[in-house]
Amino acid sequence: MTETASFVVVANRLPVDRVTNEGGQTDWRTSPGGLVTALEPVMRQRGGAWVGWHGAPDEIIDGFEHDGYSIVPVPLSSEEYEEYYEGFSNATLWPLYHDTVAFPEFHREWWDSYRAVNRRFAVAAAEAAAEGATVWVQDYQLQLVPQMLRELRPDLKIGFFLHIPFPPVEIFSQLPWRREILEGLLGADLVGFQVPGGASNFLRLVRTRTNRKIERDTVRVDGNHTCVARAYPISIDTQGFADLAESPEVIAEAEALREELGNPKQILLGVDRLDYTKGLRQRIRAIGELFQEGKLDPSETVFLQVATPSRERVEEYKRLRDDIDLLVGRINSEVGGVGRPAIVYRHAGYPRSTMAAMYRIADVMVVTPLRDGMNLVAKEYVACHPSTNGALVLSEFAGAALELKQAYLVNPYDLNGMKAALMQAATDPVRTRQRRMRALKKQVETYTIDRWAEDFLGDLDALS
Ligand code: ADP
Ligand code: F6P
Repeated sequence: MTETASFVVVANRLPVDRVTNEGGQTDWRTSPGGLVTALEPVMRQRGGAWVGWHGAPDEIIDGFEHDGYSIVPVPLSSEEYEEYYEGFSNATLWPLYHDTVAFPEFHREWWDSYRAVNRRFAVAAAEAAAEGATVWVQDYQLQLVPQMLRELRPDLKIGFFLHIPFPPVEIFSQLPWRREILEGLLGADLVGFQVPGGASNFLRLVRTRTNRKIERDTVRVDGNHTCVARAYPISIDTQGFADLAESPEVIAEAEALREELGNPKQILLGVDRLDYTKGLRQRIRAIGELFQEGKLDPSETVFLQVATPSRERVEEYKRLRDDIDLLVGRINSEVGGVGRPAIVYRHAGYPRSTMAAMYRIADVMVVTPLRDGMNLVAKEYVACHPSTNGALVLSEFAGAALELKQAYLVNPYDLNGMKAALMQAATDPVRTRQRRMRALKKQVETYTIDRWAEDFLGDLDALS
């Protein structure tokens, strides 16, 4: 790459993934997850360079232009895919940062790989950035990059945003490499978290594990560098989603889908990556019991659950996939709809237009993670559902619950509480549902992805 950019995003994934289709040909498709959904419109608007992995191990790809910005692919070997991505990122950090809802594994060779891959990303970012550029590093896979990049390029402004929760000191401290990760993050000028609790966990960690001076949200890292920690709740391109949901193609697709589901009176919807943090086991059990107890009538109500395949070779994810298959099969064999199952379960990824069609027809959206940084699906539903009489059932443990206060909030560990909230959402008078949905819509229309990027980058720019 010869040209450099004044704005650079660095993320484990590029916005597009290189995939091999059934005919053996390679193609590009939108990458999974909330990070890409959120950052793609930001890059389309601002331009610059996106440094990231292209999703295919052992393949070296040249950079190219995409939607008005440059793509800078960073290669990973199969071994790094196993050790850095599946291992340290998704079997050590992911469960550790999500309240240890699964047991984190600690392996020294995974750590070595994490460090080596972080260095490669830092070098790629240093090469892509123009003199004095702003570089915005993303998420838990790249926590060492801020410090490495500062060493390589002290002229840069470096921001870091964590898309997942930042755990309390007591949990973080289990990590054998806690010192290195903390120092890695402190290399940034500004570290952003989804919620204020993340920023205060981070500052408490600095206070507990180092003797650095902290003034309010600012850490004096050394003689000439400070690091500020603040919360910036991420959002979506609300208008973009709303326009998509109103397009004639999506309206037609929504009606076809409703037909396919047997024109039920009521549709409950769940949409997730197939991840154990999303509370799928609890959600399906709660809804299954409501069917079994006759509180939901399978001849009138369908629960549509779609789950994108994710991190499929990681043990906990394999177990989850089997559990969900079994659970759905068992419930459907016990309670039958008319010519269709009570739970329609689809283990697949869909284009954004199909997601919008699903959100359009869902009377009750069920988002019940055990822990989630934000959960953009909840915001997407609010943006896409056309009338104001939908209902959102939302876990208290999703970052989104701090903003979407008019949702039907639930504790996903409390099955009876969840069942009661689901029934309330499904049966509340239309006027109550409308009042709640209006408030939710106002929130997602006010605090959009543009505001998020402006707030973060404005603060980063203002730091000397
Ligand atoms: P996470 O980042 O943990 O995956 P989020 O809820 O923040 O969780 O974001 C998930 C993103 O992935 C959303 O933009 C959502 O539309 C998308 N998504 C989730 N499930 C599917 C699916 N089955 N097909 C296509 N996109 C999906
Ligand atoms: O938003 C959290 C996140 O882990 C992103 O960092 C990631 O890109 C996305 O979810 C999907 O996960 P993966 O990249 O492992 O498929």
